[in-house]
Amino acid sequence: MKFFIDTANVEEIRLANDMGIVSGVTTNPSLVAKEGRDFIQVLKEILSIVDGPVSAEVISLDAKGMVEEGMKFAELHENITVKVPMTAEGLKAVKEFAARGVKTNVTLIFSANQALLAARAGATFVSPFVGRLDDISQEGIDLIRDIADIFNIHDIKTEIISASIRHPMHVTQSALAGAHIATCPYSVIEKMIKHPLTDQGIERFLADWGKMKG
Ligand code: E4P
Repeated sequence: MKFFIDTANVEEIRLANDMGIVSGVTTNPSLVAKEGRDFIQVLKEILSIVDGPVSAEVISLDAKGMVEEGMKFAELHENITVKVPMTAEGLKAVKEFAARGVKTNVTLIFSANQALLAARAGATFVSPFVGRLDDISQEGIDLIRDIADIFNIHDIKTEIISASIRHPMHVTQSALAGAHIATCPYSVIEKMIKHPLTDQGIERFLADWGKMKG
C-alpha cells in the first residue's frame, strides 16, 4: 500500500515528502479553505514538491462545469488528478476526462456499488471514506475490503484510496483490507512514526554509550 498525504498545507507536504513516504496528495474544498490561499497557487507549489498524482476537487455539480473546471487544473501538470463527486453528473464527467486522458479520483464513496460504477465510468482512483462511515456506526474498513474483493474478482485496475483516515489503526486495517493507497493527514503520519519503545530504546542506547566514555 502506498501513502498519499491528505492536506492542502504545503509545509506538511514538504515535511512528509522529505521522509520519502509520499506517493501523491489529495485535497478537498474544506482542506483548501482552511489554508485561505489561492488554490491554483497552492496546486503549483504542491506539484513542484511531489512527483505523483495530486487530486484537485471540482465544485461544480453538473458534468459540463466539472469538465471545464477540471481541465483548468489538468492544464497545470500531467500529475493533476481531477477529484469528482460520486453523482450521476460526476460519472458523466469521469467518462469525459477518461476520453481526454485526464486522471480522476471519484470521491465521497460510501458503498461498493458506487465504487464499481465509478470504476466502470473510467475512474483512475476511487476514494471510499472510512472515518465518516465509522462516524455513523458503520464499519468503514468493511467497505474497503468489499471494494478490494470486487475489484480483484473482476480484474478492475482502478486504484482504491482509503480516505477519511482518522488514526493509525485505520492505516493498518486499510493495508490488510487491500487498499492500494491510504491518504493520511499529517497528524496521522506523525502518530504512525512514533512508538514509546523506540523512544525508550534510543534513550537507553545513548545512556549506555555515555557510560562507556573514558
Ligand atoms: C480525501 O480525499 C478526503 O477528502 C478526506 O480524506 C476526507 O476526510 P475527513 O472525513 O476526515 O474530512
